[in-house]
Amino acid sequence: MDQERWSEVDRYIEKKLVGSDPALTSTLAAAVAAQLPAIEVSPNHGKLLSLLAIIHNSRRILELGTLAGYSTIWLARALPADGRLISIESNASHARIAQVNIEKAGVGAKVEIRVGKALELLPELVTQGLAPFDFIFIDADKETYPEYFEWAVRVSQYGTIIVIDNVVRNGAIREVKPEDKRVKAVKRLFDLVAQDRRVTATAVQTVGSKGYDGFMLARVTEDLHDRLEHHLHRRD
Ligand code: SAH
Ligand code: DHB
Ligand code: MG
Repeated sequence: MDQERWSEVDRYIEKKLVGSDPALTSTLAAAVAAQLPAIEVSPNHGKLLSLLAIIHNSRRILELGTLAGYSTIWLARALPADGRLISIESNASHARIAQVNIEKAGVGAKVEIRVGKALELLPELVTQGLAPFDFIFIDADKETYPEYFEWAVRVSQYGTIIVIDNVVRNGAIREVKPEDKRVKAVKRLFDLVAQDRRVTATAVQTVGSKGYDGFMLARVTEDLHDRLEHHLHRRD
């Protein structure tokens, strides 16, 4: 492990390719000022999310876990003028800080933050006709990742891209019987995805300013339209 080297290289990449940006810099400063945990994606990962959403021509993005809105801003910037992003955040104070940051970044018209526990708010997205989404970023509480994955597929369409953060956890996922509840849940996520015929996926290990972790990238390969219609019109 060589954290200082990883951080230096992350700073190098950031300086060369990602660039500095007043809205993102002030978002990070606001997060520090409010003493939020410094667990937002790194600038290089933020740009990766944005590039993935652009490559995919995403128009309807769903995010679970807003924090100060840092990843939200990266993703919202990938959207066309009529694109929309819904971000779910359970902590009302995080959501308030994020709202300010998102407006300052000029993407307020595209972004809606919904405050509440993701598992409680996800069903409403379906009944309110807001699904399907074409890009989903899962980054809320790790203990609930298996359930979030199930919901993500439920609110997807054919081709939807699902990105799931923090799935390597310093290599802890290689443990056969992990104690940590979060690691257990992430391993259950791998099991679910592995046997789920509706998606095809991989995971990539990363090192950088946020240490040693990784993300999962999945693509919905099944035409879910009929099933979603069924869900929308069910009244039970
Ligand atoms: N995506 C952000 C970081 C999110 S950190 C970024 O990269 O900039 C994880 C966030 O998930 C925290 O703000 C936390 O309050 C929120 N969270 C935790 N449990 C949640 C839940 N059950 N539902 C929705 N959000 C939750
Ligand atoms: C944690 C959460 C994250 O989303 C992340 O990227 C890093 C750490 C955490 O809860 O510790
Ligand atoms: Mg994360």
